[in-house]
Amino acid sequence: MKNIFDWCKRHIVLFTILAVGFVVVFGFINIQVLHMTSEPEFCHLCHPAQGFGPLAEVDSWEHSAHGEAGVSCLDCHGRPGVIGYAKAKLGGLRDLYMQFTISKEEKLEILSNPDENLVPSWHCLFCHSDEGNKTVRETTTGPMKVVSMRMLDDVVNPGFRLRKGVPDIMEETLVGGTHFDHTLHIEEFDLSCRDCHFGVVHNPATKTDRMNFCLTCHADAGDGAPQMADCTVCHEAQVAMNEGQGVEGIEPTMSLMYGEAADMTCTDCHTGVTKGVFRSSVSTCTDCHEDLEYKNVFEEWAGETKAKVAKLREVRVEIEEALKDADSAQRNTAQAWSTYQRGIKNLRFVDHDGTNGVHNNEYTVAILESVEADFEATLELLDNVW
Ligand code: HEC
Ligand code: HEC
Ligand code: HEC
Ligand code: HEC
Ligand code: HEC
Ligand code: HEC
Ligand code: HEC
Ligand code: HEC
Repeated sequence: MKNIFDWCKRHIVLFTILAVGFVVVFGFINIQVLHMTSEPEFCHLCHPAQGFGPLAEVDSWEHSAHGEAGVSCLDCHGRPGVIGYAKAKLGGLRDLYMQFTISKEEKLEILSNPDENLVPSWHCLFCHSDEGNKTVRETTTGPMKVVSMRMLDDVVNPGFRLRKGVPDIMEETLVGGTHFDHTLHIEEFDLSCRDCHFGVVHNPATKTDRMNFCLTCHADAGDGAPQMADCTVCHEAQVAMNEGQGVEGIEPTMSLMYGEAADMTCTDCHTGVTKGVFRSSVSTCTDCHEDLEYKNVFEEWAGETKAKVAKLREVRVEIEEALKDADSAQRNTAQAWSTYQRGIKNLRFVDHDGTNGVHNNEYTVAILESVEADFEATLELLDNVW
């Protein structure tokens, strides 16, 4: 030992260089390992199934809105800040240990009964509200980040929200196309995100489940709360689509089958509501139109819209990557971002209606054309800033 110290003293410069080199290389390898073991591909090794539910967490994530928006595993399964990240990595070691010590059945049992607080409400609010983001940033112990490891630690609202085109859910009442006041309901009835959004990402509850939950309170008069028959109070997005208005720059176009001219309203098509069947389908068309050809009209409308939306979603992922690249190279992307934001806002208008254009095909087609144009313009603007 003494010899080593003597050697170091004699070669102090060389020693310093070696020591610094070691720390840098070791640190770099560590960071690479941390990075690699945070990626969905790594999680996939032990969570490999297809579809929804336990074991299929990576596949379900890939097809979810969060996956498409680049929100990754540790953005939800690790709390904000360096300490939160470190804790998540330690949890990962436990996963590894358990993988080799418990049976397949035990693993499935754990995955089928996720802890109630696996992702607590305040964590969701970190991204989905401005106040929630501020509070967590102010109260997080330790630094937010050392190096950029994931999206979560860079989330600063309102900027993050606006770029992703999503509302502040505690302030705004048009959410996901539905008129719903989160603050009122969460505070008055002490609900958590999980009560309504259970399975968000991994195993979506059906929309009928969700509406039925509303109806536990909204189907017996009183409290001034809207009742089931008041479709238009809650279903803002579908009203806007049927009325064919709300998208800036697109000529208002009432649906052929809605409003006074056609003498039709929601329940003329949604005839099953009193029996608890909310969703209409292709067979609804031939309730009124005798000609069976009208089923083909439905398929054509829905099919073409679906294909177009799928294509635009792929382009969207591409554009966000390109925007991020340009941002990290410090290019001026302000105009590109704002054109892109208008595009995703309008794409979301179609998404929120949820019928692939069946409610108002003409309006839908016009909106999607404008989205495509905005996306193309964004890519052009990006070409120009390089
Ligand atoms: C070596 C295999 C392995 C890898 C890799 C792995 N997991 Fe797991 N995971 C498991 C096992 C086994 C369980 C069940 C036992 C447990 O809770 O640790 C589990 C459980 C979980 C749970 C549920 C914990 C709970 O308390 O309900 C989450 C969340 C999770 N993993 C997320 C991830 C994420 C995110 C990744 C990638 C960063 C990942 N896992 C990578 C094996 C693994
Ligand atoms: C890292 C930030 C982040 C976190 C954490 C986060 N989200 Fe999101 N969430 C987003 C973004 C971005 C979108 C928009 C996706 C899109 O482009 O449509 C979104 C979309 C949604 C949507 C609408 C789309 C859908 O899948 O139905 C819901 C509901 C939602 N989040 C709920 C939650 C809940 C509940 C949690 C906590 C378990 C949570 N989010 C955690 C960023 C986040
Ligand atoms: C009482 C039920 C209920 C509770 C509790 C609840 N939500 Fe929601 N949330 C809804 C409904 C309904 C919608 C609209 C869904 C739709 O139309 O697709 C919604 C929509 C959203 C959206 C989509 C916004 C958009 O425009 O893309 C986000 C994000 C969201 N909720 C986050 C949360 C978070 C975070 C919590 C917990 C703090 C929470 N919600 C608690 C019922 C609830
Ligand atoms: C937007 C937040 C969010 C993202 C992103 C996310 N999860 Fe989850 N995850 C949850 C929530 C919330 C639960 C709790 C159960 C539920 O509500 O579905 C959960 C549950 C789990 C579980 C427990 C078992 C189960 O199926 O419920 C595992 C394992 C898991 N997630 C792994 C992953 C992996 C791996 C990724 C990345 C590929 C990922 N999660 C991405 C929010 C998220
Ligand atoms: C636990 C009972 C309960 C549940 C569950 C519930 N609500 Fe409510 N809601 C109420 C009550 C009570 C009011 C009236 C409160 C008031 O006006 O002060 C109300 C008011 C409303 C209003 C009118 C207030 C406004 O914002 O304009 C809407 C719209 C609404 N709820 C939508 C929904 C939706 C959508 C769901 C399902 C995701 C839902 N509610 C679930 C009890 C509930
Ligand atoms: C109190 C608010 C409220 C009222 C009133 C209401 N709904 Fe809903 N409805 C919802 C919510 C919330 C959802 C779930 C939306 C989501 O998750 O995207 C829903 C879902 C639906 C769905 C989709 C079902 C599925 O599984 O695909 C249809 C169709 C629907 N509602 C039709 C109607 C009709 C028609 C009326 C009027 C008779 C009506 N709703 C009244 C809140 C309401
Ligand atoms: C011309 C008939 C028709 C009229 C009028 C109509 N709908 Fe629909 N609606 C449908 C059909 C058909 C579907 C199912 C589309 C599909 O499965 O692709 C649907 C689907 C829906 C959904 C589910 C969307 C989702 O997110 O999955 C809701 C909610 C809805 N309608 C509400 C309304 C409301 C509210 C009105 C009145 C403002 C209305 N509808 C008027 C035929 C109609
Ligand atoms: C409740 C009755 C009703 C239902 C259900 C209905 N329609 Fe219509 N439809 C009408 C009426 C009324 C008009 C307006 C007739 C006019 O202006 O000539 C119309 C007009 C149309 C037109 C344009 C004029 C024509 O006859 O070609 C098309 C296309 C059409 N409907 C397709 C559909 C499709 C697709 C569905 C299923 C999603 C559907 N309709 C469901 C009543 C209905």
